[in-house]
Formats: sequence, C-alpha cells, structure tokens
Amino acid sequence: MEKNVSSLITIFGATGDLSYRKLFPSIYNLFQKGYFEHSLAIIGIGLNEFTTDEFREKVKNAIQNNIENPKKIDAFLKLLFYKQQDVNSKDSYHELLKMSLELDDKFDLKGNRLFYLAMSPKFFGIVTNHLQESGLTNVKGYKRIIIEKPFGDDLKSAEKLNNQIRKSFKEEEIFRIDHYLGKEMIQNIERLRFGNTIFEPLWNNKYISNVQVTSSETLGIEDRGAYYESSGALKDMVQNHLLQMVSLLAMEPPISRKSSDIRKEKVQVLKSLKCFNPNEIKKNFVRGQYDGGRMNNEFVPAYRNEPNVDSQSNTETFVAGKIEIENSRWAGVPFYIRTGKRMKKKSIQIVIEFKKNPMHLYYSNCEQNAPNLLVLNVQPNEGFSLCVNGKKSNQNNEMQKVKLPYTMPIKDKMNTVDAYENLIYDALIGEQTNFTHWEELKHSWKFVDDIENVWKQEQPQFPNYTSGSYGPKESEKLLSEDGLNWWNNL
Ligand code: BG6
Repeated sequence: MEKNVSSLITIFGATGDLSYRKLFPSIYNLFQKGYFEHSLAIIGIGLNEFTTDEFREKVKNAIQNNIENPKKIDAFLKLLFYKQQDVNSKDSYHELLKMSLELDDKFDLKGNRLFYLAMSPKFFGIVTNHLQESGLTNVKGYKRIIIEKPFGDDLKSAEKLNNQIRKSFKEEEIFRIDHYLGKEMIQNIERLRFGNTIFEPLWNNKYISNVQVTSSETLGIEDRGAYYESSGALKDMVQNHLLQMVSLLAMEPPISRKSSDIRKEKVQVLKSLKCFNPNEIKKNFVRGQYDGGRMNNEFVPAYRNEPNVDSQSNTETFVAGKIEIENSRWAGVPFYIRTGKRMKKKSIQIVIEFKKNPMHLYYSNCEQNAPNLLVLNVQPNEGFSLCVNGKKSNQNNEMQKVKLPYTMPIKDKMNTVDAYENLIYDALIGEQTNFTHWEELKHSWKFVDDIENVWKQEQPQFPNYTSGSYGPKESEKLLSEDGLNWWNNL
C-alpha cells in the first residue's frame, strides 16, 4: 500500500452498527499504520444527541472491542467530530459545509472529501442532492462517495437511484461497496488465474466440467428481520456477492490492471449470463427457507418465528442456482451458486472441478475416479488447494487422491486486514477495481429481476430446510440431475 493520504471523511450513519463494528476500527487501523501522514479528520453524522466527547467515547469502545492494543487511540480520537443531523434538513448541510471548511483549514486536508453513506438506502438520493445543493461537493481537492448496499431493490429503482446520485457525483467518484471484493482470497482469484502459467490454459470449457460457488452461513437473520423481509437471499447475496465472484472467475484476461479494464471484462461476463425463460428459471433455481432446528446443541427458531418476520413469510433464506455463460470460453460449463442462512457451516468456497482424465479408464481403481479440483477457501480458512491423483505407495498400480494444500500462514493471517480496511483505503486513493461499476450492477439486477418475477408468481412450500443442514434437497437434485454433486467436505 502507498502511504500519505489526506482527507475529510464524513460518515452518514456514524452511530450505526456498521460504523462501530467495521468503519471506525478500519479507519483507525489505517491511521495506526501511518497512512494519514498528511492529514485526517472525520465527521460522524447521526440522529442521536451526542456531544463530540460522548461520541469519541463510543468510538473508543468500538475500536477497543475490535482491535488489540490500539496504541494510538488518543491521537486518533482527537480527529473525530460529531454532528447531530437530520439528513432531510436542508439547513443542516450548510452547517456541515461550515464545519467541513473549518476542519479542512485546521487539519490541512487539501480540500479532499470522502463521504460515506452507511445508512438506510432510502436516504442515499436525498443526501447526495443536498450535498450538491449546499456546495459541499464544490471542492478544491477530490470528492468521492462510498455507498453501502443495497443499491436499489430491482433494476428500475437502482436506475432511479443511480440517476439521482449521478447529478452530484461522476461515475469515477462513486464507490459502490461489495465487501466481498475486499476479501483477500477474492482478490486472489485474479492473481491465481493470471499470475500462473498452469491455470489459464485450462480455464475453459475444454477442461473445466463445472464451477461451484458457495457462501453459506450458520447465522440466521439476527435482528435484521425488517430489512431481510424486503430483500431475501436472492437480493441480499446473489445479486451482489455471488455474481461478483462468478464474474471474477469467468472474465477474460484484462488488457491491463487498470480498474477500467478489469471492470470492463467483468461487465462482459454479466452481459453474457444466459437469460432463462420462466420454465428454465423454475428448473435452474431453487429457493428455500429455514425451519427451526438444533445447532451447536441449541434450538434455533424457524425464520417465520424470527423477530419482525411475518409468520406466513415467503421470503427465501436460501438460493441455489445453475448459471450459464454464453460465450465461447464457457459454453456448456455450468456455474452452480449456493447461499443460505442457518446452514451446516460457515463457508465461502469456490470449487473448480476439472473434467475427468481419460486415463482413469486404465487406472480404474483410483479412489472414486476423482476429478482434479482447484479449491479456493475464502472463509473461514483462507487459502487454496489443488486435488490431484498420484500413485499409492504399494506394489500395485493403485492410485490415490492427493491434496496439495496452501493455508495462509498464521503470521500472514494476523496481518490480513478486514475487507473494509482494504476498501476504505482504495477509495481514499481513488482505486475503483474492487467496487461495483454501474454497468455491473445494471446487468446483475437484470439477471436477478427475471428470477424474482418468476418466483413472485408461485407460492413456495416453506419452510423447506432444517436449520443446520445443507439446504433443501432440491439443491442436491440440481446437481445430481447433471451427474454431479456439491463438494461439501473439502
Ligand atoms: C451481507 C449480507 O452483505 O453479507 C448479510 O447483507 C450476510 O446478510 C453478509 O450475512 C455475509 O458476509 P460474510 O462476509 O460474513 O460472508
């Protein structure tokens, strides 16, 4: 990472859970590592009636809860200011401008402003309009905005929101967060594919049988019932995180490492996703909702019994699907995706299953006729492994599966920064690769809207999977009908 960034960071939603758990600890970490040698000031905006001192105390606790031995915490807290503000009030933005100019002067911030919208999406458009009208976006340095998800509720609302924001910020000033893009192993996909000679020649339909992308969680929806009821797993996870992983796995080599070149290739993948007709959608996509069950020896309630959830809710907490990419590299290779809450284990994992080698015919005693697999473990373990076949050490010609594992060493793991730390730093230096471009968002919404529209027509039979399982049995069927299975235990 380069050092020396200076900025006034203004966080809307500074007293929310995301700010305390992720944003302040991440910014603090950057500060402690010396990335703000030039200058930094932070304005936290919230509805609560806090004084700056009270706010500093809350942030201090949040940092201490998340970071071991924060040695420079007192110096950091001095850069923090609180402003109670109703984001609908026009006048409050004039006060914010005055405060911003004073801090800019006092801390020599070079007129750089980074706005962070960590708040309910219904305010995104309102805030950006006011920022522009009040003059807060007339800057001497740069102006950038980081926007949390969800970015819209479907393509139409996302387009509306985008048009609103674009009145105040250009595309190259908008940093739409997908926190999966900040994860070390997701960033590693590109390095593995394009930094090695051995994978790229095989990375196509001649050698790859199928790709499996899983993000399963043991957690339920916790206290997010109200949000989740209007979202569901399709919009909460597939539209963003899962399709982002698919686009990185499937994209063509970019002509350079410039963010515009990389994102262009990702857009091409999303544009090439096969648009399924309603019957194909019913066949290729499975939805599920968790029932109660025992996890870690404790009873956990059904989704319909969670707080702020309708007792007859048809919101899906699980999605599995088979995606096809219509281009010459991937024709005929299914990309299976799967995500769910209250599943057997927390795992973000990508499996590339290669076609079986015809030599298996001669070595028929090779355990299970094992295909080669490249497995990328994103979470909780970080690393990757290659599963190959080798000779069993005996006198017969028996074969056995051999796993060549790489697990991130503990010392590197300790240095692994949180995804948010990576992303906030990128935004501060204007690096957009790991943020979602509008074109990516547009095509993923199109894809997801088609599924949602078909699902709306039919009542699902929910709940249909037990908490602590691998999801509904139709998810297994999706692959078994193609003669395949999910790789659950690698
Ligand atoms: C968020 C979703 O985007 O990602 C949550 O809104 C989900 O519902 C979370 O729990 C999962 O993130 P991670 O990094 O724990 O896989």
